[in-house]
Amino acid sequence: MPATDPVRHRLDPAVLRLIGNTPVVPLHFEPEEVTIWAKCEFLNPSGSIKDRFAAAVVIDAERRGVLKPDSVILECSSGNTGIALSMVGAAKGYRVVILMSEGASHERRRLIQQLGGELILFSSKGRYQTGIEMSREMAAKDSRYFLPSQFDNPLNAMDHEHGTGQEILRQVPGPIDCVVAGFGTGGTLAGVGRAVQARYPSARIYAMEPAESAVLAGECPCCHFIEGVADGFVPPLLQTARLDGQVKVASIDAMEMTRRLHRDHGLLVGTSSGANVAAALRLAVENRFPGSVVTLLCDRADRYFSTALFGGAPADVPPAA
Ligand SMILES: Cc1ncc(COP(=O)(O)O)c(C=O)c1O
Repeated sequence: MPATDPVRHRLDPAVLRLIGNTPVVPLHFEPEEVTIWAKCEFLNPSGSIKDRFAAAVVIDAERRGVLKPDSVILECSSGNTGIALSMVGAAKGYRVVILMSEGASHERRRLIQQLGGELILFSSKGRYQTGIEMSREMAAKDSRYFLPSQFDNPLNAMDHEHGTGQEILRQVPGPIDCVVAGFGTGGTLAGVGRAVQARYPSARIYAMEPAESAVLAGECPCCHFIEGVADGFVPPLLQTARLDGQVKVASIDAMEMTRRLHRDHGLLVGTSSGANVAAALRLAVENRFPGSVVTLLCDRADRYFSTALFGGAPADVPPAA
C-alpha cells in the first residue's frame, strides 16, 4: 500500500498544468446541415473532464489546510473521477482510495490501479448512492479520509463556471443559443450553464439523459450503457442549474453517434460524448438556432475497449439503480 508522501504533496506537479484550456472543435454534420461546437475535454491529461474537479478540490483542500500529510483521498466514482483523483494523488504524493461499482468497465479499474489508486468495489446491483454512503461511513470512522464529495461539493460547479464556461465563451463564436450535456454530478451543466447564461441570458440549457433512465422526465431509473452519466437520481448540483428541458438519447443511439465521431470525425471519445452530440444535433435540427450550439466531449475511448461500444459483452452495464 503506497504511503502518502509528505514531501511531494507540497509541490506543483507539471501534469496539473496540462489540465483545462482544452480546444473547441466545430463538428459539421453534412446531411443535417448543422454545426455543433464541441469542447474537447477528453484531451485533459487523464482523459476526461474530471481532471478539472480533481485538481481543484485537492488544491483547495491544501490551501484550507484540510489535507494533512497522512490524509487519504476517498471518493465514490463511476470511473473518471477515480482516474483523475488517482492522477492528482500520484503527482502530489497522496494515497487515493476509490469506491467503484463492479459494473464499471475494467479499463477504468486498470487505469486507477496503474496510477496507484486503491479500489474498493461494491455490487453493481446496488444504487450508486450505496457507494456514497459507504464513503461517508468510512470517513466517519477514520479522520484521515478526505472526501472530495463531487456530488454535493459546490466547488465542482464553480470550477466549471469559472474555468470550462469561461473558456467556452472565449472559444465559441457568439451568440451561444444552446448548451446541452449529460449529467453525473451535474457540475458541468450547472457551471457551464451559469457562465453561458451570464453572457447570453436567452441561451437555453438542456440536460441529456439516457432514454432508459430518464429521471428528469419523471421516469423510473433503469440500466443503460452511457457510462459516467445518469446514476438514477437527480444530483443536488443539477438542481442549481436553470434547465430549459431534457433530451432523451437511447444507449444504442449514443453508441451509434460515438462510432460516427470515431469514423467520420476521427475523434476517439466515449459514449457520453456521442450521447451529448446526438442530443445537440437533435436540438439544432429541431430549433435551427441562429447562434451556436455547444456540447462537451467528456472522455477518451480507451476506457471502453471491453464494452458494448467496441462490440464487447453487454455485461458492463453501469449501476443506474
Ligand atoms: C464520461 C462522463 N461523461 C459525463 C460526465 C458528467 O459530468 P458531471 O459529473 O459534471 O455531470 C461524467 C462524470 O463523471 C463522465 O464520467
